[in-house]
Amino acid sequence: MRTAEVKRRFLEHFEARGHTVVGSAPLPADDPTLLFVNAGMVPFKPYLLGQVSAPYPRATSVQKCVRTIDIDEVGKTTRHGTFFQMNGNFSFGDYFKEEAIRFAWDLSTTPVAEGGYGLDPDRVWATVHRDDDEAYGLWRDVVGLPEERLVRRGMADNYWSMGVPGPCGPCSELFYDRGPAYGREGGPDADEDRYIEFWNLVFMQYERGAGTGKDDFPIVGELPARNIDTGMGLERMATLLQGVDNLYEIDETRPILDRAAELTGKDYGARSGPSAAESHPDDVRLRVVADHVRTALMLIGDGVTPANEGRGYVLRRILRRAVRAMRLLGYDDPALPELLPVARDTMAPSYPELAADFERIASYAYGEEEAFRGTLKQGSVLLDRALGDGALPAATAFRLHDTYGFPIDLTVEIAAERGLDVDVAGFRALMDEQRRLAKADALAKKAGHADTGLYRAVLDESGPTEWLAYETLDTDSVIQAIFSDGVPVTTAPDGSVVTLVLDRTPFYAESGGQESDAGRIEGPGVSAEVLDVQRPVRGLVTHLVRVTGGELAVGAHVRAHVDPEWRVGARQAHSGTHVVHAALRQVLGPAALQSGSYNRPGHLRLDFAWRGGLSATIRSEVEEAANVALRRDLPVAVRYMPLPEARELGALALFGETYDDTVRVVEIGGAWSRELCGGTHVRSAAQIGTIAITGESSVGAGQRRVEAVTGIEGFRYLARERDLVARIAEQLGAPAAELPDRIAALVDRVKHAEREAARLRDERTTGEAARLADGAADLGGVAYVGTSTDGDPRALAGHVRDRMAGDRPAVVVVEGPKSTVATTNGAARARGLSAADLLRTALRGRGGGTPETAQGPAGGTDTVQAVADLLGAR
Ligand code: ALA
Repeated sequence: MRTAEVKRRFLEHFEARGHTVVGSAPLPADDPTLLFVNAGMVPFKPYLLGQVSAPYPRATSVQKCVRTIDIDEVGKTTRHGTFFQMNGNFSFGDYFKEEAIRFAWDLSTTPVAEGGYGLDPDRVWATVHRDDDEAYGLWRDVVGLPEERLVRRGMADNYWSMGVPGPCGPCSELFYDRGPAYGREGGPDADEDRYIEFWNLVFMQYERGAGTGKDDFPIVGELPARNIDTGMGLERMATLLQGVDNLYEIDETRPILDRAAELTGKDYGARSGPSAAESHPDDVRLRVVADHVRTALMLIGDGVTPANEGRGYVLRRILRRAVRAMRLLGYDDPALPELLPVARDTMAPSYPELAADFERIASYAYGEEEAFRGTLKQGSVLLDRALGDGALPAATAFRLHDTYGFPIDLTVEIAAERGLDVDVAGFRALMDEQRRLAKADALAKKAGHADTGLYRAVLDESGPTEWLAYETLDTDSVIQAIFSDGVPVTTAPDGSVVTLVLDRTPFYAESGGQESDAGRIEGPGVSAEVLDVQRPVRGLVTHLVRVTGGELAVGAHVRAHVDPEWRVGARQAHSGTHVVHAALRQVLGPAALQSGSYNRPGHLRLDFAWRGGLSATIRSEVEEAANVALRRDLPVAVRYMPLPEARELGALALFGETYDDTVRVVEIGGAWSRELCGGTHVRSAAQIGTIAITGESSVGAGQRRVEAVTGIEGFRYLARERDLVARIAEQLGAPAAELPDRIAALVDRVKHAEREAARLRDERTTGEAARLADGAADLGGVAYVGTSTDGDPRALAGHVRDRMAGDRPAVVVVEGPKSTVATTNGAARARGLSAADLLRTALRGRGGGTPETAQGPAGGTDTVQAVADLLGAR
């Protein structure tokens, strides 16, 4: 049964049982505790926790998920994938254990001809939590599962939570016995490759607090209602129903694996043993490629782009691991252009947007591969230089890894090719140290922030903040709560920095790329400066403030006042961002789509999808288009409408953002610029004043960034540039219009002078080389020159050798400040003399290279004499 059919049957089964079918949320999680959605229940969390009442009592979905915690297991077991789809059915205070168990059992064991999955009921096992007599009884009495196949397990296996504070509860898992060929008898406790877990039913009843591990956390309360959350691994069910060994071989991944095998000439499966543990390393690599290429496709499809931190880093790592695996399989050409289209073709039947958006997706993926190949090349040069010093120290390996993203196994491999060792133990120690520091840093940061649970408590008690940023700059407010270092307090003294919650606020909280408002909080005898404004949980606005006089107290009446100058600047910058975006698309075409932005008064930056830099002419055109929009004073309109209507109108939404059903659409000049946006804006384009582009640069593969200044900052920037030109004109004593020619002439003269200096240096080297060649010693019929230099030993050795008579065997050894180089001519090699062998023997095993030229460490031994002795003794 094809994966798409498994999916279809699942939704149909639950829809027929009163469930509302809900589409998958994008992979980037709308949840501060997660990078990616990692379970089907994530988008339903507010309903499960009772924070928001669910719009339907039952729901079902096929949710895209990414989990990278087990990334090193990928390909080595049958069941670890970084991307997977979780089919789920959910009850929000509606049905509970009995229906959940019956629904799952029925779908799994109903014959294929009758719409089910047709699993053999005699091979299904179930586990329950050790104390869950109710679930045990239901399996035994309602389903009639024999007790031999009903297992009680502890917290670690049968209690589910997200690993972070949130909903949790005991669970019951369904397993399928794949038979003796896959492992030992004895149920899930004996062998989880033979007994494959395919469905997890969570009886969600409690809320857990912070803690570590799978069982070490407190239960902080009961949920307002008893819920059901289930997860059926789509790929696992497909593995079972397609009769393949593992999830890399199902219809959605196997074609990628096959293409990789074809490209690398590997015969997949031919050299592996029967169990996953006995896989040949090449088979593991092929599976890694299949898994990672698909994951990358899905991540970029949902708006993630390669970066050095957060989600973008996960993507970057996955892409690089895929490229690296192909390299280890012996494939050195760009691999993604061969593999990604295959992944698209397998996934597009379920996710048609991947085909529609493929050009954009591919440009990020291919760009990243190109960049990585560049890194590898750059790293190789660095490595060559480092190898000149002899052995490779741990610190260099670490720098290669940390700065250039050069994997340690690659460093070891290249070093080995040159006969050198790498201090891997030292490298690991440095990595551990870095990890320790990062952890300490993360902990320190966390301690400074209140747990979102505390904010939720305020929300429960006082209700949501009345948010008036669109209406006014001043409100009379009451202080609802104060947090100091993440702990609730009742007062905050002069000089302290604390977080405030007000009943209503005019402050814009940082979001959608717009920096939060600046301003003050004032009351009788008390004042505070607002440093930052955030919305840590939906509905609640928090203000980070520094008390500048008096004492703040919970319950006090204060006036919240946004700095009007600031807000004017913020509006100009945010509207300016939309204008620049529209101007870019007007000039470059619709592919130049924004991927991120940031703006604060006077300044904006905008990242967008584009390969290659913008020429000066294009930049000017964009700037001109933007300023023409200001000159035409295009009207700015804010409209609220249902999301589908906004999409219909072509409003631009950021990939991967989740939006409410009703969205806010900001238009500048009607359709000229139409974006989903929650920011604050000017009323018409002329109010932006000026837009001046100050920079354009690359921010990763296939991604450009423009920066610009707006309003009075725009004017100041242009004025400064004018003054700068005037100063240079004065210095050169030429009118501004002649400056480019004058400077070009100056640069020419400097270049000429440098060339002349280099020529003189060369002449000297050539002279020295000729002198050395003339003074060659004769050692058993071999002309030998051994010397040392302060300059480049490789260049000098080459010069000397080229000046020696070609028909006589010649060997030259030059010791430089950092390395020693040996070289031979053709006649010497014809006599069996090898530069690499001579040098290695003289250096007792260190150094390496080819018979023609070799390199080793400098100093310590008298290499020049040692080679002379070797030649003399022949
Ligand atoms: N949320 C449950 C899981 O991820 C179903 O296993």
